[in-house]
Order: sequence, then C-alpha cells, then structure tokens
Amino acid sequence: MSQAFDVIVIGGGPGGYIAAIRAAQLGFKVACIDEWKNASGGPAPGGTCTNVGCIPSKALLQSSEHFEHANHHFADHGISATSVKIDIAKMIGRKDTVVKQNNDGILYLFKKNKVTFFHGRGSFVKAVEAGYEIQVAGTKEEVITGQQIIVATGSNARALPGVPFDEETVLSNDGALRIGAVPKKLVLIGSGVIGLEMGSVWRRLGSEVTILEGLPTFLGAVDEQIAKEAKKAFDKQGLKIELGVKVGEVKTGKKGVSVAYTNAKGEAQSLDADKLIVSIGRVPNTIGLNAQAVGLQLDERGAIVVDAECRTSLKGVWAVGDVVRGPMLAHKAEEEGVAVAERIAGQHGHVNFNTIPWVIYTSPEIAWVGRTEQQLKTDGVKYKAGTFPFLANGRARALGDTTGMVKFLADATTDEILGVHIVGPMASELIAEAVVAMEFKASAEDIARICHAHPSLSEATKEAALAVDKRTLNF
Ligand code: FAD
Ligand code: NAI
Repeated sequence: MSQAFDVIVIGGGPGGYIAAIRAAQLGFKVACIDEWKNASGGPAPGGTCTNVGCIPSKALLQSSEHFEHANHHFADHGISATSVKIDIAKMIGRKDTVVKQNNDGILYLFKKNKVTFFHGRGSFVKAVEAGYEIQVAGTKEEVITGQQIIVATGSNARALPGVPFDEETVLSNDGALRIGAVPKKLVLIGSGVIGLEMGSVWRRLGSEVTILEGLPTFLGAVDEQIAKEAKKAFDKQGLKIELGVKVGEVKTGKKGVSVAYTNAKGEAQSLDADKLIVSIGRVPNTIGLNAQAVGLQLDERGAIVVDAECRTSLKGVWAVGDVVRGPMLAHKAEEEGVAVAERIAGQHGHVNFNTIPWVIYTSPEIAWVGRTEQQLKTDGVKYKAGTFPFLANGRARALGDTTGMVKFLADATTDEILGVHIVGPMASELIAEAVVAMEFKASAEDIARICHAHPSLSEATKEAALAVDKRTLNF
C-alpha cells in the first residue's frame, strides 16, 4: 500500500520547499521530493538558489568585496593592509559551509512543519482516482500518491549551441562558483545578472575579465539612466564589457579556451582565456518528470504551461517558480509557492507581478521595482521623474560609497509611484521601502512626507521622492 498525501511537492528549491511548508501550515499532509545531492551524496534541499545560485554567489561576492576593500579602500580610512592575500580554497570552503547551513536549515524546517521529505527523483506514473501516483527514485524506489501535486523543478543553465559545459574550462553557474584558483584571464558570455555578479567576483580577486554581450544595449531591462550609471562604474573598475558581439567558434584545449567573435563594428576578434563562463540565460527543467505520462502541457521553451494562478493543464497539478513563465527569481518562486498552497486550501492566494523587485548584487548594487522610464514612454504614460545622487547623502559620504542615485517615477496626474530604480550602496535593502510603497499604491508625496532616520541611505529615497516635485532639501 503506497503512502498517500494531500499534497506532493516535486522539487525542494525556494518554490517547492516554501510551498510544502505553507501547505503543512494549512493542515495538509505534505511530502516534498528533491533529488539534489551534496558532495557525500546526502540530501541538499534548497535547489539552484541554495546550492549553486543566490546563496553561494552572495557568499563569494561578500568575500571578494572584503578583499577589494582591504586592497583599495582601507587606506582611505587610515588603515594600512599591506600584502593582502586571498586563500581561494578557504573562500570556497566558507561558501560551502554557508550553503550547508541553508540545506540543514530547510531539513530542520521540514521536521518542524511535519513535511515528509523524500531524497530522490520524483516522476509522474499515472493519474488515479485519488489524484496522481508519483514514483520516487532515490536510495530506494517507492510510489506515493498525492491528491494535489505542485511541480517546482526549477531551471538549468543554457549552454551555447555545440559548446557543452565541462565545468573545468567551460563553466555554468555551477563551475563558476567553485573555481579553484584565480584565473589570469576570464571570459564570460552574457552580461546579464550572472555575468555581472560572477564577473565582479573574479575581477575583484585579480582576473582580467571580459564579458561578451550579444545585445547592443547594456542591461536592456533596467532603466536606461540607471544602466548608464552602472556601466560607468563597471568601466572604472576595469570590468570590460563588449556589447553587440556575435560569438563564433569556441575552442578548448590544455591551455584553456579561445573564443572567436565579431565585434559591434563587424570585425573578427578572438580572446584567449583560462576559463569561460557561459551566462546566457536559463531553461525550465522538466527532465525526469515524465510529464508525458500524464499529458502535462509544456510550451515551446519547455516551460510548464500555467494560468495566472499557476494551474497547469491537469486538474490538481500546479507548477511554480523557474519551471513556469515569469521572472526566474527565488522570491517570485516563493510567492507562487505560498499562493498555490493557499489556493489548494480554498483561500485567495495572490502574487502581484507588478511589485516583484529585482536586485543585481554588484558594486554598486542595482535594484528596481515597477516600470522603467523607457517603458512608460513606450506605454504613453504621462509621468514625473525625480532623482537624488548618493553624492549628496551624508551616510554615503561617511561610508565612502557615493556612486549612483535613487530615481522615482510617478504618475503625472495622480502622483502614484510607478517605478523606483536604484544604483548605489545597499540598493538591495533600500528597494524594500519602494516595494511596500507600491504595494500600498503610495504616491511619491507619501514617501516624501515620511520621517527617515538621519544619517541613513534611505534619506536618498525620501529625497528622490521630493525630487519628483523639484523640492529636494539636500541637493
Ligand atoms: P530551483 O531552485 O531550481 O529548485 C528546483 C529543485 O528541484 C532542485 O533542487 C532540483 O534538483 C529539483 N528537481 C528537479 N527535478 C526534480 C525531480 N524530477 N524530482 C526531484 N527533484 C527535482 N534569484 C534571486 O531571487 N536572487 C538571487 O540573488 C539569485 N541569484 C542567482 C545566482 C545564480 C548563479 C543563479 C543560477 C540563479 C540565481 N537566482 C537568484 C535565481 C534563483 O536561483 C531561481 O529563480 C530559484 O532557484 C528558482 O527556484 P525554483 O524553486 O523554481 O527552482
Ligand atoms: P540573463 O537573462 O540575466 O542574461 C543573459 C544575457 O546573455 C543577456 O544579456 C543576453 O542578451 C545575453 N546573451 C544571450 N545569448 C547570447 C549569446 N549567444 N551571445 C552573447 N550574449 C548572449 O541570464 P543569466 O545571467 O544567465 O541569469 C539567468 C537568470 O538567473 C537571470 O535572468 C535571473 O532570473 C537569475 N539570476 C538572478 C540573480 C539575482 O536576482 N541577483 C543573480 C543571478 C541570476
């Protein structure tokens, strides 16, 4: 007799494990199946985000930022740090410890919430009267039954056609997070989020980094003024970004890798490097799910087709996170996971796609929520813009980090905030205020009239809101 559950979640990344916990909180008998293995073959729930994404990348960004500060910024504070060295093995070891703390944390949360965890691959067997039979293939094989199924199987790195990842010389995000020594020369293809974050890590540690980007514009999804300011800062740091390239043949050998490409002027070029990181986007992952056994509908990109509420083509089967449409972000996956669990319980789970924040954890950080100035122009919306530079913010000056600005975009008639864009220190934290404001449909005037602590970076947010009506106080 197979074990029967009210809800089975396939995938234990941010979409899956959060959905499982929320469903258990709502009183359901829940199982979560995840196949990720740690170095010793044990369970490592948390998905891409915890194992080879958000968490390890931020650990390396932190280590490399400390190194950069010790090398280049301590002296401004009168601190002499001569012969600063980096022990890469220790840095990677620390990152692995941080990852393990998160894996263990999730296993603890499953216990606390009485979620039954299965370590192995989950796949559809067939639809049955009581829901669906799901096979779990781990150290042992078993079939369990779930009335409701939530698929949260995530995504995988996209490879260049004909250039498979070997994780030695041609690296995906996985290999990029465990390079054993600072490469003298590093090439990245794609100047999106991973390209900029990983490029920053290894540049700070001493690599000569070149990022080759296919599009002619830098960070096309970001507000143009903010992207321009960020590009200026990256250029100054020595992060080389070539736009409008067409990548040709990639050859690997004992000495590393050689990348042939055509630059924006149409000239044939070639770059030799020790390592190549390919960061050209990710593809939804349904490998091993046996979706065809039950007729689960996928689109032409391989994503599971869902409606606005994450219902798939099959009754009682839901899908959330990177495996469905929408931004590939951990917090988007989590919000969908919570909403689906609540919908299964008959509640009105809700995800507001207009207020999902984006953050790029470079230095300066880039963060935004809502629409960009170019989108408002395209949409024909009448708006007012206000900006405030960190150069005029006392806390930023005290920190010694005055790059960038906060920018507000508000409706010209109603003053409702339509977008907030930040490039500068702690943009990742500052954006939260803008998300709350937009969620409550606040006006720029609302933020301008709220008392912000002095001295704090958040005063730049208030001043940018004041700038919408041309009444900044400190600029
Ligand atoms: P995943 O996290 O991919 O989890 C899916 C899980 O399902 C995996 O554990 C997988 O092994 C398992 N699985 C798949 N198929 C099966 C099966 N058949 N049976 C059992 N288990 C299965 N997002 C942010 O918001 N902030 C960031 O800072 C950020 N940084 C990132 C950095 C990098 C380098 C990368 C690559 C991504 C980053 N992301 C970030 C994106 C984020 O990682 C994803 O959006 C998020 O992990 C998606 O969550 P998910 O639950 O949909 O899928
Ligand atoms: P991305 O979509 O952010 O960027 C890919 C870039 O590669 C684009 O600029 C694209 O124009 C370019 N590109 C595509 N094909 C190319 C080619 N053949 N030659 C040259 N350039 C090419 O994808 P990325 O960086 O791989 O990250 C994947 C996703 O992971 C992100 O979209 C994001 O959702 C998530 N992520 C989020 C992070 C965060 O929230 N801080 C950090 C890292 C990843």
